[in-house]
Parts: sequence; C-alpha cells; structure tokens
Amino acid sequence: MKILTVFGTRPEAIKMAPLVEALQKDKELESVLCVTAQHREMLDQVLALFALTPDYDLNIMKQDQSVNQITSAVLNGMEAVLEREKPDLVLVHGDTTTTFASALAAFYKKIPVGHVEAGLRTYDKYSPYPEEMNRVLTGHIAELHFAPTERNRQNLLAEGVREENIFITGNTVIDALLKVKDIPYEFEDETLKSLDFQGKRVITVTCHRRENLGENMAQIFGAIRDAAQAFPDVEVVYPVHLNPRVRQAAREVLGGVERVHLIAPLQYQPFVNLMARSFLIVTDSGGMQEEAPSLGKPVLVVRKETERPEALEAGTVKLAGVSRETIFSMVKELLTEKEKYRRMAGAKNPYGDGRACDRIVRIIKNVQLE
Ligand code: UD1
Ligand code: UDP
Repeated sequence: MKILTVFGTRPEAIKMAPLVEALQKDKELESVLCVTAQHREMLDQVLALFALTPDYDLNIMKQDQSVNQITSAVLNGMEAVLEREKPDLVLVHGDTTTTFASALAAFYKKIPVGHVEAGLRTYDKYSPYPEEMNRVLTGHIAELHFAPTERNRQNLLAEGVREENIFITGNTVIDALLKVKDIPYEFEDETLKSLDFQGKRVITVTCHRRENLGENMAQIFGAIRDAAQAFPDVEVVYPVHLNPRVRQAAREVLGGVERVHLIAPLQYQPFVNLMARSFLIVTDSGGMQEEAPSLGKPVLVVRKETERPEALEAGTVKLAGVSRETIFSMVKELLTEKEKYRRMAGAKNPYGDGRACDRIVRIIKNVQLE
C-alpha cells in the first residue's frame, strides 16, 4: 500500500513528522512525502529537526501570499505528483489551505484521503479564517477521519460522517512533543541564553492568525506592552512569525519596549524548551493550546473562540479575547493570584498519550479502501 503524505506549514510538519517516521518504519507500507512549502524557512526548520527529506517539494511560497494563490499553486502542483505516484491513500493534516487544496486535488483523481486532526470546529465560518472552512471541506472529502478526541468524533457524526470511518487517536502533536521534551537542551539563541529564567517570570507570546491581523493585533500587543511595563520581574519572549504583516505590527507596538524580546521563529526543540521554562503562554496558536498542558503551563488564548474546548474544560487554557483591557487583566490575575495560577498549571492534558501515530498506522493497514 502506497501512502502519500502532504503538508506545507510549520504546525502541519510538527504534527505529521512523527507519523511519517512511523509510516517509513513499517515494512508493509510504502511512504512518499510531498511538501507544498506553503511555508519555507519555518517548514525547513521542522524537516531538519526530524531528518525528513521530502520526495517532492512544490516550493510554492510567495511573499505575503493570498489564499487564492496558495490554493491554485497547490492544486496545480499536486496534479503531477498524484499522476506520477498513484498512491492508494493521501494523508493531510488539520486546516490549512495546503490541507484543503491537497485533499481537493486527490478527490479530483478519485484517490481516498485520510484526514489527521479531523473534526475540530468553531462553527464560525470566519473564525478562524480560513481554517474553519478548510477543515469542514476537507472533512467532506476525506474517507478516513483521525479525530483527536471524542468531541471531535461527535462533531463529525453530526455532519453525517459514517461512524465506521472515524477513529479516535489522540493528537499527534503529543507524539512530537514527547520526542523532544525531555532531551537535555541548552539554548543557542543569544537572547534566550542571557535570560534569567529563575529570577524572572517569562511570558512566551506568539500571534499570527489572519483574523487577528489589524486592530486585534494592535489590542493584543498593547496588552503585552502594558504587562511588561506594569511588572518589572516579567520578561516577554515573542518569536515573531515570518508573515511580513505580523512582523510589522509587532515591531510597531512592541519594538524597543523594555523587557520585550522580539526574536526570529525558533526551531521546535528550543521552542518547547522556552515554553517549558516560561511562567505563562499568551498565544493565538492552535497547537500550543494542545502542547502547553503537557508542560504544566497555563495558556491565555488571544482569540474570540477556540476549537479546543477540551483544554478549556480541563482548565489549562482560558479564552482571553482580543481586547487590550481584558487580556491585560487576565495576565495580571495569573501574575498575582497564586492559587488561580496553580490550578491552571496543574491540569491534565486531554489531547493524548503520545501514541496517536502508531494507532493511525495500524488503522490504515486494517481498513479496506474502495
Ligand atoms: C498558515 C496557515 C494557518 C496556520 C499557519 C501556521 C493558511 C491560509 N494559513 O498561516 O492556517 O495556522 O500557517 O503558522 O493556510 N512566511 C515566510 N516564511 C515562512 C513562512 C511564512 O516568509 O517560512 C511569510 C510569507 O511572506 C508568506 C506569509 O508569511 O506569504 C504568510 O504565510 P501563509 O502560509 O500564507 O499564512 P500563515 O499566516 O503563515
Ligand atoms: N513553534 C515553533 N517555533 C516557534 C513558534 C511555534 O516550533 O517559534 C511551534 C509550536 O510549538 C507549535 C507550532 O509551532 O507546535 C504552532 O505553530 P503555529 O503557531 O504556526 O500554528 P498553529 O498552531 O496556529 O496552527
């Protein structure tokens, strides 16, 4: 059986790398890897860490690209790959435009699609945008649905997906995290090397979502600046996403602010170590809401909604919204109220046990594909 795995951005790569490793190890399967390179440097960082060499690299990234550009470049690029490889199954991940366009390209060739991290929903078409619609559409194309949690399974059932095609596997991000989390690591980045992680409280920040570009980002970054200025024992580390619009917004509000460190995106291993040594995480990332509980770190999500209600219920994550005052007051609460902090930091991770990839491989080998 030949499996073609396709991904293109940093988070897909992190979450699919351990699965590609597991597919490659299995002697009964043939594994082919195609990257769209919707991201370039941020993708290559992950490929290098997991020592993955793609068989195909569509190399589609353009500066400040639009979703239309990504969609058409992936559709065009995938056609030749699918014709040449004729895989029995195409595996895609999550909710990016690479995910949806690759699934659509496979559908046009009548090749079955397996969707990893299936069934996450906010039920708001424009938030996250365009991810909500990307994952809904991918879910309608896919034959096999690898759902991280029971709630994700329920979402798919409610949309008419057949029960026998949904498999609860846990999230593969935990597999990736556990591979790097306990390896002893010293920072190489000069800023991180010089930070006093014992004496200071480090807040790790990331923010990149398209629906946050503009006013929301101004509000979020304003709150971060307020927190850095109000608490002299706080150091903020923000590895800024390479999207030029994000970089400009971050520079405008946070550039030159005392104890706020804007640095380049980090390799996955240093980034996991940064989260693990931080006091608090403030982010609009999806993946970090799943990782942080395994590191015992509270997360404030700077978005209006989350498709990860399990983390809210477990108490490891709180929705902080996108208003400067609210975000600041929630950061302040965790900096000043020990008991509230302790409760969030001690909650259990609802996203898996680090064995999702083995489960997915076993399922793929046992299903009958039409
Ligand atoms: C994409 C996904 C989003 C995912 C995010 C993870 C879409 C529409 N968006 O958003 O779902 O959560 O990745 O990070 O699928 N850039 C570089 N180098 C890189 C990466 C990006 O220079 O390695 C710059 C380029 O100018 C690029 C821009 O960032 O045009 C935006 O990249 P894009 O993939 O379109 O959007 P993201 O915001 O990264
Ligand atoms: N991450 C990383 N380096 C960084 C910032 C994030 O390796 O500088 C990792 C993070 O641990 C998580 C993933 O990248 O696994 C999140 O990616 P991103 O925020 O780009 O996407 P999202 O999670 O929103 O889909």
